[in-house]
Amino acid sequence: TKIVFMSHDGATTEVEAIDGDNIMRVALANDVDGIIGECGGSMMCATCHCYVDDAWAQRVGPRADGEEDMLESAACEVRPTSRLSCQIRIAAELDGLVIHLPESQT
Ligand code: FES
Repeated sequence: TKIVFMSHDGATTEVEAIDGDNIMRVALANDVDGIIGECGGSMMCATCHCYVDDAWAQRVGPRADGEEDMLESAACEVRPTSRLSCQIRIAAELDGLVIHLPESQT
């Protein structure tokens, strides 16, 4: 499943991800700058904050329980499309998903 990361300055990184994995882990595994994922995906840090591209916002599904609260700790502005990338599970129907990275995670 193809995932496209767009950095704050417009640089694009396209990666091939395994279904069932999550966006945070895929970013780290591919050295994508802009995602830290300090807590390892247990929704305890908000350093995996990302913005789902408008075209995909509905398709990735709703925020997880507790995700909203944790997002309040994100370093950058929280928008309607803000998600914790560790809570976005990759599936075949997300092929081509575009993820925008915030300017900073700290
Ligand atoms: Fe910590 Fe996602 S990696 S909340």
